[in-house]
Amino acid sequence: MPAVLDDVSAEILDLKKRIGATILAHYYQDGEIQALADVTGDSLKLAREATKVDSPVIVFCGVLFMAETAKMLNPKKRVLLPDLQAGCSLVDACPADKLAREQERLRANGRQFQTVCYINSSAKVKALSDWVVTSGNAEDVVRNRVPAGQEILFVPDKHLGAYLRDLTGRDMILWDGSCMVHEIFSVTDLLKMKREHPRAVTIAHPECPRNILEHADFAGGTEAMRKHVGTYREPTTFLVATEANMMWDLQRLHPQHTYLGVPGVSCACNKCPHMARNTLEKVRDCMRDGRPEILWQPEFDKAKEVLTRSLLNPPVAVTPVAEDHPHGD
Ligand code: 13P
Ligand code: SF4
Repeated sequence: MPAVLDDVSAEILDLKKRIGATILAHYYQDGEIQALADVTGDSLKLAREATKVDSPVIVFCGVLFMAETAKMLNPKKRVLLPDLQAGCSLVDACPADKLAREQERLRANGRQFQTVCYINSSAKVKALSDWVVTSGNAEDVVRNRVPAGQEILFVPDKHLGAYLRDLTGRDMILWDGSCMVHEIFSVTDLLKMKREHPRAVTIAHPECPRNILEHADFAGGTEAMRKHVGTYREPTTFLVATEANMMWDLQRLHPQHTYLGVPGVSCACNKCPHMARNTLEKVRDCMRDGRPEILWQPEFDKAKEVLTRSLLNPPVAVTPVAEDHPHGD
């Protein structure tokens, strides 16, 4: 929480008490929004935290598929999203009717497969899937929960899918979708930065294409990257190939390090334009007006079942092996 609050932040805290709201914010939100949140997290953490909220209202500072997920996992709550237009290029890449046709075509060709969808997808796509994964549990689901002998139709992120295929050796059919932010990191700039900072550690999200991941010292979902940075005690320079707001959280957690964002080919900042639709003013307005609100849709019933078995009933707790880097870079 900032020491001195601006007027809008003060109004938000006042409204929070008045309407009984819990604010959940993704790490890709601007720092001023993360600073006000009760909980910050990646998609997996926020989905799980949403189930624990006991206040009547959840204000979800993130994008539409995340707010829908919170609603499905805690249906009695009113879920507000500051801007209903906050979408995602991955969601747009996989319309449900197109997925249903592809599944039909594969079945007609005798293919034995299960559909695994990234959580960055519509509720209709989730309802058509066997499993929903986030960057945090995808490896576990692909390795341990999809029965051996089944191919995997992985939608919609081809880069995350290719990363998982390389990691697990599973047979995968990849959908042609990508994240508009992680897709465009400039490999030329990354290599230049690596030359300028030869001892720096490069961390990258698996939504990045292989040409970036192959130059990373560590690839992992958002929480995994946070944990990895936490294993360095001495001041270290990190080259960060993920959404730029993530560095706000890293700076808050581990201020002894230096974080340098890898630029995109067409933009120096690499902020997600969908996440950026949420502003402090819109957070205040949605709490004051009680809208935009996520309303229950018919497809939520089936999508909720898939979400619940995928995210809330893990078969085994996967504990990452702790590394330690006491000497920095
Ligand atoms: P995670 O929240 O799983 O790290 O996914 C990143 C992302 O792009 C969210 O939209
Ligand atoms: Fe979608 Fe990429 Fe934005 Fe995440 S960062 S919401 S994957 S467009």
